[in-house]
Amino acid sequence: MSFPDVRPRRLRRTAALRRLVDETRVAPADLILPLFLKQGLTEPRAIGSLPGVLQHSRESLRKAAHEAVSAGVGGLMLFGVPDTAHKDATGSSGLDPEGILNVGLRDLVAEVGEATVIMGDLCLDEFTTHGHCGVLAPDGTVDNDATLELYGRMGVAMAEAGAHVVGPSGMMDGQVGVVRRALDAAGHQNVSTLAYSVKYAGAFYGPFREAVESSLQGDRRTYQQSPANVREALREVELDVAEGADMVMVKPALPYLDVIAAVRERVDVPVAAYQVSGEYAMVEAAAEKGWIDRQGVMLETLTSIKRAGAQIMLTYWATEAAQLLRERY
Ligand code: PBG
Repeated sequence: MSFPDVRPRRLRRTAALRRLVDETRVAPADLILPLFLKQGLTEPRAIGSLPGVLQHSRESLRKAAHEAVSAGVGGLMLFGVPDTAHKDATGSSGLDPEGILNVGLRDLVAEVGEATVIMGDLCLDEFTTHGHCGVLAPDGTVDNDATLELYGRMGVAMAEAGAHVVGPSGMMDGQVGVVRRALDAAGHQNVSTLAYSVKYAGAFYGPFREAVESSLQGDRRTYQQSPANVREALREVELDVAEGADMVMVKPALPYLDVIAAVRERVDVPVAAYQVSGEYAMVEAAAEKGWIDRQGVMLETLTSIKRAGAQIMLTYWATEAAQLLRERY
């Protein structure tokens, strides 16, 4: 009988030893909470496919923001959900200073703007009647360059509402550069861009569509990427960094850990990953059936995304995870 000379189990013996040698630690400040503000609500409303996530009223948004900040989250990402009367073919209420997104950004900045980072999703899909991320050409395709013009103006409106960071998420070619130049020209040199550089056209955004009451006709495969591609993702990231992106993002997160790792290797700007609605919903649904340990999977997925190379994570669990993590380390 021979015995092992090396015993990795020695460092797994107690909780204190295990904690000491953990290579990856998720901190509350790594997490960004996405929030939905729905126009005209007096009471928050549940979203069926996103249990625990709300369409907020202005009042409940402020409350959720304070809870997140008390838990130590690193930032808030706001999505505006206009009522149907405020949707049109060009998504003009997204650019309106009195539109629901900019109203919400001003509320968040006034409420918790000193304590955390206020971000807004810069995209037209919530505001268009057809649900696409840009304006349509006569042949029904999304017109890249006509959309860019609107993104530039939308970014400026968001900066004027006080956003610290704008997140161009529409996957139009050249969007980061156009938004950067528009911000600079309007005197907002210090507003940052978090570029949704790598965004896959997959099936994981289903519950989000319910959250923003999307009226999407067709799909987004002519502008979002094929799940099959990683070299193309690196190309997108390099273009965005060259256009001035301050941070880059990969989305979704868990099915694309290899992409996160490749992006981390390639560029030196902060890398974010978005644990999207479908990732969250799958875990909530399985936990609801009693098939998995909800909080265990929550923290394991976030640890995995960070281990892969994302230093910032957007997750609908941000507040709860931050509370759990505070107790852990
Ligand atoms: C675009 C946007 C989407 C999401 C974030 N920003 C929708 C899409 O690309 O279809 C999805 C986020 C999620 O599923 O949680 N405004």
